[in-house]
Amino acid sequence: MIAAPINPSDINMIQGTYAILPDLPAVGGNEGLGQVIEVGSDVRTIKVGDWVIPRDAGLGTWRTAMVLSADDLVTVPSDIPVLSAATLGVNPCTALRMLSDFEDLKPGDTVIQNAANSGVGQAVIQIAAAKGLQTVNVIRDRTDLHKLTDRLKAMGATCVITEEMLRRPEMKEIFKSYPRPKLALNGVGGKSATELLRHLQSGGTMVTYGGMAKQPITVPISALIFKDVKIRGFWVTRWKREHKHDDGALQGMLGELCTLIRAGQLSSPACTQVAIQDFHKALGSAMEPYISMKQVLVM
Ligand SMILES: NC(=O)c1ccc[n+]([C@@H]2O[C@H](COP(=O)([O-])OP(=O)(O)OC[C@H]3O[C@@H](n4cnc5c(N)ncnc54)[C@H](OP(=O)(O)O)[C@@H]3O)[C@@H](O)[C@H]2O)c1
Repeated sequence: MIAAPINPSDINMIQGTYAILPDLPAVGGNEGLGQVIEVGSDVRTIKVGDWVIPRDAGLGTWRTAMVLSADDLVTVPSDIPVLSAATLGVNPCTALRMLSDFEDLKPGDTVIQNAANSGVGQAVIQIAAAKGLQTVNVIRDRTDLHKLTDRLKAMGATCVITEEMLRRPEMKEIFKSYPRPKLALNGVGGKSATELLRHLQSGGTMVTYGGMAKQPITVPISALIFKDVKIRGFWVTRWKREHKHDDGALQGMLGELCTLIRAGQLSSPACTQVAIQDFHKALGSAMEPYISMKQVLVM
């Protein structure tokens, strides 16, 4: 293994609240980049020296080495940055699928999202900008709000607002400059999701992919009756499992993302690299609020 991030789902797995729970004892980590150091004599799909990432969740990537079936791995090009490759398989894939599979978005259309500074959120901002979409990005207020706002705008965010601003009547002004969103991406839940729904255009879709606030969503009756909004969910692991026998779909998606990376249109999330020996420190930081830094274990 070369590097492996700590994602919220890894923490949820340890907490025992995730949809996939390994048999114990188990190694944590569902994502990461490895380099092949040896292959079996019948292996044709992977060769020594290749960069590889897990095909599915549950491999246990927080370790220095492992022996796997070739089918458990997907090769990735080694001409992209290590941090991009180590964080490619989950968040950018989730962002790309959610921007592609739910609404027919055209350049100029608007997407609204909460947790906009999350790994998924940063990928959404960049992929959306590359597609010519406008993004309204909601983050939680903090002491260094301007610094984070500037960082997200430099990535291509059209507009960055706080959760408090999302609830204010002045929001109407924002949608004088851009069309109302066809798509809302919800990684938080609770009141934040309800507020996203209020701004969707008629017939629009809210896709829930995460529940960082650990609160259920209340759907306003008016959003259903008068706007007929669609409430959907997305899980990248389900997508990968559904496309298990369609290697072209996975390779096509990874290829599209790598093209954006090479073009300088998709960078890895802001990361703190931590030696695997200091995993306690990295796990602690990964669970702190307002950190805005993906903790990545480096081996
Ligand atoms: N469904 C899927 O296929 C899929 C795929 C990838 C990720 N996810 C999910 O997406 C979410 C984000 O993952 P990630 O790796 O992008 O996260 P991340 O980079 O670790 O960032 C965590 C984000 O959650 C926010 N947050 C934390 N606690 C919060 C709270 N109580 N209320 C509101 N926001 C809160 C943080 O905001 P602050 O900076 O304000 O703390 C930050 O924006 C997670 O729930 C993850 O499990 C789902």
